Amino acid sequence: MADQDIQSILREDREFPPADSFVGKARIDAQRYQELCAQAEKDPQEFWANLAREHLHWHKPFKVVLDESDAPNYRWFSDGELNVSYNCLDVHLAERGDKTAIIFEGEPGDVRRLSYRDLHAEVCRFSNGLKALGIVAGDRVVIYMPMVPEAVVAMQACARIGAIHSVVFGGFSANSLRDRIEDAGARLVITADGGHRGGKVVPLKQATDEALASGCETIEKVIVLRRSGEDIPMKDGRDIWWHQAISGQSDRCEPAWLNAEHPLFLLYTSGSTGKPKGIQHACGGYLLNAKLTNLWVFDLQDNDVFWCTADVGWVTGHTYVAYGPLAAGATIVMYEGAPTVPDSGRFWKICQDHQVTVFYTAPTAIRALMKFGDEVPAAYDLSRIRLLGTVGEPINPEAWMWYRRVIGNENCPIVDTWWQTETGAIMITPLPGVTATKPGSCTHPLPGIFADIVDQDGNTVSDPDKGGFLVIRKPWPGMLRTIWGDNQRYLDTYWEKFGRRFYVAGDSARRDKDGYFWIMGRIDDVLNVAGHRLGTMEVESALVAHERVVEAAVVGRPHDIKGESIFAYVVLQGERPVGDEALKLVQELRGWVSKEIGPIARPDDIRFADNLPKTRSGKIMRRLLRTIAKGDEITEDISTLENQAILEQLRGTS
Ligand code: WTA
Repeated sequence: MADQDIQSILREDREFPPADSFVGKARIDAQRYQELCAQAEKDPQEFWANLAREHLHWHKPFKVVLDESDAPNYRWFSDGELNVSYNCLDVHLAERGDKTAIIFEGEPGDVRRLSYRDLHAEVCRFSNGLKALGIVAGDRVVIYMPMVPEAVVAMQACARIGAIHSVVFGGFSANSLRDRIEDAGARLVITADGGHRGGKVVPLKQATDEALASGCETIEKVIVLRRSGEDIPMKDGRDIWWHQAISGQSDRCEPAWLNAEHPLFLLYTSGSTGKPKGIQHACGGYLLNAKLTNLWVFDLQDNDVFWCTADVGWVTGHTYVAYGPLAAGATIVMYEGAPTVPDSGRFWKICQDHQVTVFYTAPTAIRALMKFGDEVPAAYDLSRIRLLGTVGEPINPEAWMWYRRVIGNENCPIVDTWWQTETGAIMITPLPGVTATKPGSCTHPLPGIFADIVDQDGNTVSDPDKGGFLVIRKPWPGMLRTIWGDNQRYLDTYWEKFGRRFYVAGDSARRDKDGYFWIMGRIDDVLNVAGHRLGTMEVESALVAHERVVEAAVVGRPHDIKGESIFAYVVLQGERPVGDEALKLVQELRGWVSKEIGPIARPDDIRFADNLPKTRSGKIMRRLLRTIAKGDEITEDISTLENQAILEQLRGTS
């Protein structure tokens, strides 16, 4: 990482003190915050142990807080036993069994409400259905579903019986699904006939059939939820309808009491190499950080209605939809479809109709909705909203200010939350009743999270505004435990860079003169497209899998709405096409990548060249490609470039 890469260009002086409506009323006020920080400083293990005893129900209390014997494969509360689903559902039955747990709205407009009691019964029935199919603790179950309550039911049921779920985002293709099923060695897939998205039906069962036809030997059964109502083929002996799987099952199911370190889920995410990593989380530690951050950062109170717009296919949909808010006893909103169906007011209409009080979404969605103008949200009553959040990528100050002014009516705090699939829960964020916010900064680490910024040698960067590597100095309960089936990759990716001294997040960051953290972006070859992580290598591998493609290099290009868009340089077999033929092939390749990985990975731009710019040692000059993609003046040293003539082709001018 060259220094000029991490020079920050963002300067922001506006500051917004915590809203009056929050000061003194929030779950965490300034005094409590100071206490928590002091306790965490003094004895981090005691700090987490106290919180774990206070906030989680333990079937068998733990004595060991942190087992460091195999560091950095840390183990938390490792002699304790609990059940995540019990902690999300059963604990609420006595006091708030009739409270609404989920308000669901489908894209076509159908609405369903499930109380905690209803949800508990559904989860138990489905757990019993899973058991009847022979699923036992430790089995891997892949969930490939639309954003409907049954997706949460499926996750919670796995947690209840100790099966390890791996949710695959419904926007991923059959090939991506197959790779994830095979890596996890799953026995069961839970899917639906189809889900509603963007006015169309996403054919999930059909993609599942395609995936299974091309491998996935370990899969024994497929459970299919009827959602879109299509006529779909069911394979005898393999496929079972959801309603048949639960038919006759009891609405009670004794939870499996599991060791705190028992894996709760795998979630595949992009890294800098082609193969997605199965990030593995453990029951006890994950649940603790998930619950605490819902209480602390979103300040969830008994009458709140919390809407996190993330799909359960991403980690945000795990921690702030399926687990954390339920552990906190909150009411959540789930919406199945796209934000622009039937029109660009859909999100705001949902906020109005279901009286949303806390709203959490991605900067890319804010930027997209901002484009439609202030009149769209102004047509809805958003007056109940009291807190706003963002996640997934840096938010530009302009979008932040719009969010605050138009959605937050100038008086809602905004929590810009930094975290990762790997961290399990929010790590660096404002606290709404404590922190003065600055547009674009995720402000400060939470109590107990020892974040720092270090230079190439691992020394703390203390100069204000100088960039460096974002690291976490001490283990925390919600951290990933390993990469499924590849602990070496876990060590290499997150720990080796600085001799295992701290967790390396893979982001660059700076601290301003007031000590505020500003995330500057990834330091590896990971793209952040519309808040979703994609490895450049994944897209490149998909491209070269096409028969006409010899070589491909993919870079990110700044994009107004998506943050980054995908720009691909492609070397073809045979003649370089021009004119209509080139346009046709561009379309074909875009469709190809979409099929290989999913529509989110479809390149926005593809440019053909006779070869790629390489150094004498054969390394693709990615920085040069980024510059060209942006359309900027080339300032890179191109003297080592083998074939200077291709620059014109890369620029698209020849
Ligand atoms: C980026 C999503 C700036 C970052 C929860 C991180 C952010 C990656 C923010 C993780 C934020 C996430 N400000 N950048 N508030 N939140 N990121 O695993 O690059 O899908 O490493 O987890 O998103 O993406 P992931």
